[in-house]
Amino acid sequence: MDDETRRLRGAAFEAVADVYERSRPTYPDPAVDWLVGAAPVRVLELGAGTGKLTGSLLARGHTVVATDSSGAMLAQLRRNHPDSESLPARAEQLPFRSLSFDAVVVAQAFHWFDPVAALPEISRVLRPQGTFALVWNLRDESVPWVRRLGTAIGSDRADWVEDDLEAVDTSGLFAPVERQRFRFWQQLDRDGLLGLVESRSHIAVLGGDERARVMTAVEALYDEYGRGHDGMRLPYVTHCLRTRRTTPAPPEQEPPQESPDAEGDLLFDFR
Ligand SMILES: C[S@@+](CC[C@H](N)C(=O)[O-])C[C@H]1O[C@@H](n2cnc3c(N)ncnc32)[C@H](O)[C@@H]1O
Repeated sequence: MDDETRRLRGAAFEAVADVYERSRPTYPDPAVDWLVGAAPVRVLELGAGTGKLTGSLLARGHTVVATDSSGAMLAQLRRNHPDSESLPARAEQLPFRSLSFDAVVVAQAFHWFDPVAALPEISRVLRPQGTFALVWNLRDESVPWVRRLGTAIGSDRADWVEDDLEAVDTSGLFAPVERQRFRFWQQLDRDGLLGLVESRSHIAVLGGDERARVMTAVEALYDEYGRGHDGMRLPYVTHCLRTRRTTPAPPEQEPPQESPDAEGDLLFDFR
């Protein structure tokens, strides 16, 4: 994906925050435990969206600072988690002092970041040996009907995980990456399946006619595979990566200046 496509599609969530909140799944509990561990720590969540992972982190007693580049997604997050700390921020330019967090977590979003700019920022705000964890829910396309859904709407990109793993590994900023997978199923009725498709950024950026064609194909698929009141159970594989910051602590640094999304001179020090 070129930089411009990544920027446009990464920004497309602004227009689909409601349907995203209604339709996207959360993350399985064993995956959340594997990513950040059981002991409560200070977590920075990047690309937190409407808070699908945030809730699970808060429920485990972690202190979470949730950030996202989209105001509409963050507004949903604040409705879901009114007591959470949240603010607008791009992953490439974090308005936090160095060494501020025990863990940085990214769910379903790292592929929208510019890794060349974001990885040094993530390393900077982490304490030495702090955890950097990434997670994606990908539809399990080893199942034939799920593969047909993928063909109708454009497949989940399993190579997101591989590309991002390589970016982290080759950055020289983190220890060798560990990976783990978990399975779960999402119960969906017709509206749920249609919403899931509408909430995808590559569908959100389509023109009206093209989007209508995709949605008609998805309705036909639901008619074929949905089971009345039981709807359908969509299988997922949750892909998890985790590593630790290895670089020695740098001298105290100010975050980069002139963030277009930062509000004035925001500078948060959570130590
Ligand atoms: C697929 S959503 C994931 C949201 C949430 N983490 C979840 O698991 O449901 C991707 C999120 O990344 C955000 N995003 C895209 N580019 C970003 C960037 N450069 N910096 C921070 N957030 C970004 C989008 O606004 C969107 O909320």
